[in-house]
Amino acid sequence: MFSHLKEQPADKILQLMQMYKDDPRPVKIDLGVGVYKNAEGVTPVMRAVKAAEKRIWEEQESKSYVGLAGDPAFADSMIDLVLGDAVARDSVAAVATPGGTGAVRQAFELIRMANPDARVFVSNPTWPNHVSILKFLNMPIVEYRYFDEETRGVDFDGMLADLADAKPGDVVLLHGCCHNPTGANLNRTQWQQVVDVLLKTGGVPMIDIAYQGFGDGLEEDAAGTRLVASSVPECLIAASCSKNFGVYRERTGLLMAISDKPDMKALAQGNLNFLNRQNYSFPPDHGARVVTTILQEPALRADWAAELEEVRLSMLALREQIASELQRLSGSDRFGFIAQHRGMFSRLGAAPDKVQKLREEHAIYMVGDSRLNIAGLNSETVPILAKAIIDVGI
Ligand code: LMR
Repeated sequence: MFSHLKEQPADKILQLMQMYKDDPRPVKIDLGVGVYKNAEGVTPVMRAVKAAEKRIWEEQESKSYVGLAGDPAFADSMIDLVLGDAVARDSVAAVATPGGTGAVRQAFELIRMANPDARVFVSNPTWPNHVSILKFLNMPIVEYRYFDEETRGVDFDGMLADLADAKPGDVVLLHGCCHNPTGANLNRTQWQQVVDVLLKTGGVPMIDIAYQGFGDGLEEDAAGTRLVASSVPECLIAASCSKNFGVYRERTGLLMAISDKPDMKALAQGNLNFLNRQNYSFPPDHGARVVTTILQEPALRADWAAELEEVRLSMLALREQIASELQRLSGSDRFGFIAQHRGMFSRLGAAPDKVQKLREEHAIYMVGDSRLNIAGLNSETVPILAKAIIDVGI
């Protein structure tokens, strides 16, 4: 049987992680996978997470199953975090999922169950695993223009023109904030224009929000998602807790299906529960319980938000530092976009051979499309990166 299996393509991001690990050079810089690292190169357990885990350890008396949709308190807390009061709570069906990727996968499957012909519009570029999962599920994919290779900002005219081709029932996948892989984001006016196109075409938005709090702040990063959710008849949201709570390995996410028709909520909820049951039965609980404990306890929540803000500001400072270092070395403003981008990533817009040179000659690892993880830097490695970028001729 196994001999009938085909070799599968390696995931580029995970492959890079391995190459970095295997590199014997003593000085090397990992700007690959999207994991936050502090100045010491450590991905810390957040203070509030430690405190919540201690409390759970002391108080939890059972590890019995919770429910197919996960703990409703987790859904309530996350809906509040992501959506605020943008929509009525009783318009949201939700299930806990193994991480944000679990939510994305379940959302795609729900779309396919509702309409096998639905096309999913994805930004060019998008997180490679979006495309990989869609292909795996044999779902039709349409790319829309997103990144302007010249300005390294959003090609908004191209995006709007391409989204205008959506038909009723097609799905438009948007990044809630901190676009992965480019770091280029929509402003408020542009979000409104996207809403207008969705309303005109009948395209259904699906928002992947995996970096809330990493861009402009917890509330600011949710503004686009809230605007969309409060403006359209139906919407899907895949939210991840991996990054903003630093609970990567706990696999903690939530999928929300929002409808302005009351009877649709029950139908969507039943289908989401069904999908969980088919794919893995009960979703993991530990990370969700940690997140719920933090969000429901004011002191823990305040401490978590403060630490997240420190993380956000440290990445912004690194952005400023690298942009100004590159300005000094290149004598031009052509790298100013790095300070404008938001979130963990920036796409440099460099050719693959330059990215390869950075890796081979300077032991600097970034994804082949020239996406760099800002959080992989610290104030000492920024000048090394800047010099290498100029050396290889980017
Ligand atoms: C990334 O884009 O690097 C992260 O979302 C991690 C992953 O699973 O790819």
